[in-house]
Amino acid sequence: MALPSLVLRRCVSSSAPANVIKHVTVVGGGLMGSGIAQVAAQNGQDVTLVDVNDAVLSKSRGIIETSLKRVVKKMFKDNPADGEKLVQETLEKIKTLTDVNEAVKETDLVVEAIIENIDLKQKLFSSIDEIAPDHTIFASNTSSLSIGEIASVTKRKDRFGGLHFFNPVPVMKLLEVIRTEDTSDDTYQKMMAWGQAVGKTCITCKDTPGFVVNRLLVPYMSEAVRMLERGWHKKFPDEPLFKPSKLMKKLVSEGKLGRKSGEGFYKY
Ligand code: NAI
Repeated sequence: MALPSLVLRRCVSSSAPANVIKHVTVVGGGLMGSGIAQVAAQNGQDVTLVDVNDAVLSKSRGIIETSLKRVVKKMFKDNPADGEKLVQETLEKIKTLTDVNEAVKETDLVVEAIIENIDLKQKLFSSIDEIAPDHTIFASNTSSLSIGEIASVTKRKDRFGGLHFFNPVPVMKLLEVIRTEDTSDDTYQKMMAWGQAVGKTCITCKDTPGFVVNRLLVPYMSEAVRMLERGWHKKFPDEPLFKPSKLMKKLVSEGKLGRKSGEGFYKY
């Protein structure tokens, strides 16, 4: 779903300090974790990717390689040798490990992308909290769990936030940066700067269910299903959800149709 520009504009941070995160540990090498590791390495970060066994990690590496080859095929149409060099250099930036405690000993950021289970996520963070350096920021890629609740088992609630990517990570530009009530300004700024450094458009979200995109998307999809159940809108002239808002009517009557006419909520 394309996000309404109104929402995005309100949330996009205009400035963020330079990125200070140089090494990221991605825990979980599935669909999301592989993509996160790829975009980080592609943008010059040193990455350690962790999963439960070498077979999974080998599959993750294969997925990343295939995806990288797709990226460079477009970028280096006339010079495939340079493209192949870039693939190899990027892959070299990604180390894989099955021991998460070993992985977090020297890292600036941990991005967790394991399965969506709060007990498992809390167990993981509680264990690595004892081992990771003090400055290390912890982040979860959870779609539906509370970041604050996950962070509650650690002693670094101020250095904990959410980094919610979208699938497929190498393609989707948006990154939701979630701050809890305890996330410090410094941590938030560092997460924003890192998100931008790995090529994403970052928006700030509160730690509320669904953050921004899923909060809009889920009711949108549910409404589509309800619409199918109900039949079409002409049969329901009194349904408040279908009535145009006063503001929308005013803008349309003034010919302010958005990009099409050069002005809508904004001037283009
Ligand atoms: P997935 O099932 O593809 O990958 C999860 C990986 O975590 C698996 O490879 C599994 O072996 C590994 N794992 C499980 N426990 C582990 C542990 N203790 N230590 C290390 N690795 C462990 O799941 P997917 O789709 O990548 O989702 C991961 C997270 O990202 C979830 O929290 C999900 O809600 C979130 N997310 C998923 C999106 C999607 O479209 N699939 C979009 C945005 C967020």
